[in-house]
Amino acid sequence: MRIAIGSDHAGFRLKEIIKKRFSNPGREFTDFGANTPEPVDYPDIAGAVAEAVSRGNYDQGILICGTGIGMAIAANKVPGIRAALCHDIFTAKAAREHNDANILTLGERVLQSEIACDIVEAWLEGHFAGGRHAGRLAKIRQLEQKYSC
Ligand code: RB5
Repeated sequence: MRIAIGSDHAGFRLKEIIKKRFSNPGREFTDFGANTPEPVDYPDIAGAVAEAVSRGNYDQGILICGTGIGMAIAANKVPGIRAALCHDIFTAKAAREHNDANILTLGERVLQSEIACDIVEAWLEGHFAGGRHAGRLAKIRQLEQKYSC
């Protein structure tokens, strides 16, 4: 599994924890920054990760900022991206099973790191359930096309 990961300064510490905890021979992380805890603008990192996931270069993306909100807003501007801000295991599972979300966003200032890691684990183990959910995703794609230039 190829995972694109990125954070701003407010998510830097949690990004490093997640990479260390979840890297293994079958799971490769590519880090799109930030590379230090110095301030950076979250849309720059969200755009880079979202574009890479949208192009199909990665199976999943993970984006972390202070709240996870800015990363989700920015990533969802990229066509083909379904970024989900998750606060617990339930929303992480539902985002994969129902929404086929391809980017997880997390808020380092909101979550204890152990809970954040539980969310990442649920996310990585999740699968799209298909069925009735597939038609709903098709409607999301229609909306995207309606407003694309
Ligand atoms: C940075 O201070 C903060 O605004 C950012 O990390 C994020 O929470 C935005 O949504």
